Formats: sequence, C-alpha cells, structure tokens
Amino acid sequence: MTRPASVSDWRERARARLPRMMFEYIDGGSYAETTLKRNVEAIERIALRQRVLTDVSKLQLSTELFGQTLAMPLLLAPVGMAGLYARRGETQAARAAQKAGLPFCLSTVSICSIEEVRAATPDPIWFQLYMIKDRGYMTALLERAKAAGTKVLVFTVDLPIPGARYRDIRSGLSGVLTPLDKLKRGVNGLMHPHWMWDVFLNGRPQSFGNLVEAMPNAKGTDDFSRWIGKNFDASVNWDDFDWVRERWDGPIVIKGILDAEDAKRAAEIGAEGLVVSNHGGRQLDGVPAAIEALPAISRAVGDRMTVLMDGGVRSGLDVLKALALGAKGVLIGRAWAFALGGGGETGVSAMLTTMRHELEVAMALTGCTDVRAAGDHLLVRDL
Ligand code: FNR
Repeated sequence: MTRPASVSDWRERARARLPRMMFEYIDGGSYAETTLKRNVEAIERIALRQRVLTDVSKLQLSTELFGQTLAMPLLLAPVGMAGLYARRGETQAARAAQKAGLPFCLSTVSICSIEEVRAATPDPIWFQLYMIKDRGYMTALLERAKAAGTKVLVFTVDLPIPGARYRDIRSGLSGVLTPLDKLKRGVNGLMHPHWMWDVFLNGRPQSFGNLVEAMPNAKGTDDFSRWIGKNFDASVNWDDFDWVRERWDGPIVIKGILDAEDAKRAAEIGAEGLVVSNHGGRQLDGVPAAIEALPAISRAVGDRMTVLMDGGVRSGLDVLKALALGAKGVLIGRAWAFALGGGGETGVSAMLTTMRHELEVAMALTGCTDVRAAGDHLLVRDL
C-alpha cells in the first residue's frame, strides 16, 4: 500500500475511493477546463528565489485575519456537497482545520447544516453565502449563521448562473437521466463499497443542510442542479451588498474577484476583504489564472482591504508564491476535498501537516522568516 504524501497522492486516493461522479465533480472544471489547468500551471511557472546562510532557526508562520489568529496563512475554501465525500464530511474537515489552527469556511450548499458543523467543532466557522432569490430565506440563513457564532461572511459573487461542467453531465451528476443512467450510477456506487458503507449507509446524507426548508421537494443531485438554476439570483449586483451588510455585523469578504476595477469597487462599498478567484476554474473558462490576476488587484486595493486568493494551490510552496504576490492568506478547495474523500478527517489533517512542512521549507530556503513579510523579493522575476 502506498501512503498518500502530496496533494496529488490524495487526489489518486480519492479517485479510488469515491464513485466516479463524486470524483469528477471535485476534480473537474468548466468547458474545456483551460482556466482550471492555467491556475495550476501559472503557479508552477513562478520561480522561488533560493537564498542561503540566513538564520532560519525560527520561522513565524502564524498570521492574523479579521482579528483571528491562524497557525499559517491558509484556510479551507467553501466546497459544496462535502458530506458526500466522507461521512458527515463537513464536520470532519472542519475538525481537521481547527486542530491545525485554521478557519473552515462552510458552503451554503453543504450537506451538513451550519448548526451541525458548529456543534462538532470547538470554535465558530466561517460561512459562505450564495444569493438565492427568496430573500426571506436568506435573512433566516444569515440569522442561523450568526446564531452559530460565525463572524466572517464570505459572499461568493462569481456564480450568478452555473458554468457548464461537462464532466458532471458525462458522469450522470447533472442533466436529464434515463432510468438506465440512474441504474449505472447506482452500480458505480456499489463498486465503491467503502464509500457506500461510510457515506451512504452510515452518513445518510439526506439533503442540503442549510437549504432543507427552501427546497423541500429536491431529492438527489439532478434535482439540485435544476434547483440552483431556478433559485440562484442572477440579478445580484453591487447594490445588493448593502442588503447583506444590513443583516451582517462582522467582516464581509467578497469571493470571486478577478479584475482590479471590480476590486476597487469592492473596496469602495466597504467590503473588509476579497478573494481573488475564478472559482477554481469552474465558472468562466478562458479567464486568467487567479495568481495572474493577484498582483494588479493587490496593488489596487491591498492597502485598503484584506486580499486573499485561491485557485491551483496544491502545496505549501504554492502558498508562499501567493503571499509573495500580495495575498495575505490563501484558500484551498480541491486539496482538502481530495484528502477528505481519500481519508476523512485523518486525511485532511495529514494533508494540512504536509502543507505546513512544505511552507516551512519554502520559507527557510528563500530566507523568509516571517510569512507577514513575504513579498516579491522572494521570487526570481527575470527568467
Ligand atoms: C468549489 N467552490 C465553491 N465556492 C463557493 O463559494 N461555494 C461553493 O459551494 C463551492 N463549491 C465547490 C465545490 C468543489 C468541488 C470545488 C472544487 C470548488 C470553489 C472553491 O471555494 C475555491 O474557489 C476553489 O476550489 C479554489 O480552487 P482549487 O483550490 O480547488 O484549485
């Protein structure tokens, strides 16, 4: 047996353990997946500058975001349906994050409700908001997040309508299914007995924990994708920020900014933070990699608000590259989703330990002793 070491090992473990449609849902992007690949390749192309004989016996990895101390500048991005990757998956991942001293951000479209995840963890979590049309329901959802002690709200703005994800159609996760398609899907589940036992029989994922009352008739993921199409509010615009602000006391982070003009607008309307993100290459294909968009955005608003980034981060080395280009913190999506699908809470913990070690090595060999002092002096610029 090979024990998973890197994120790509966890990806292989998840591929083996999960039914095909779950693995493809996590792994895939939209359209030709150009941006998905570009997110990873653009980070790979950046060269760290190796420096030696600097005293690196003490490394400062911890940092502060929105008044909260993080053991390192990393957090778990909102990822939908994680309760289908492992038994009550969101609770397991949130526990692993908190044991590592990192925030966990719960998706609106999680399987476990915000109350369930909060009850399973010692500290409050972050909550991600998708705007759905029923504003009464949105108000109630924000109240629930507040009652669960949530301080930081991540408002995702790059999904007014869902991008076309061809892998989900091919795997039978979305689209119109014939009875034969449904049978094949069931057989594929049975071919993954560990998943069947752990997730399906023991975890009993019924519905979307935060949305049960809003979608009483939706059962199964095919109905759900149709429900998203009908109920996500495509009319959302900058004015709606005030609507959210009136209902939220804590910091609001706008997630899904890729353009410096939008970043300036986010700063002007008073958002405390933003995430430079293209939704992990799952929305508009053909846009730049998040890391390519980061420097201009950081220059435009980095002194006024907290700039975070996600997309393509697969190691601690990648984290340092993003910090060097202006991010104050980095979110990971697929990295934790694979580790959860491949090994549950233990898997996520092991992956986070690896990332921490990778970050330490990257810092030591670039002569960076404090993550808060990372800058583009850590990079080779003229290769
Ligand atoms: C996501 N992402 C996401 N974002 C969000 O705001 N709400 C959500 O429910 C989801 N769901 C989701 C599911 C899956 C399977 C993935 C892979 C991603 C996007 C996520 O928060 C983040 O932006 C990307 O995952 C970052 O890219 P990497 O780290 O996966 O390359």
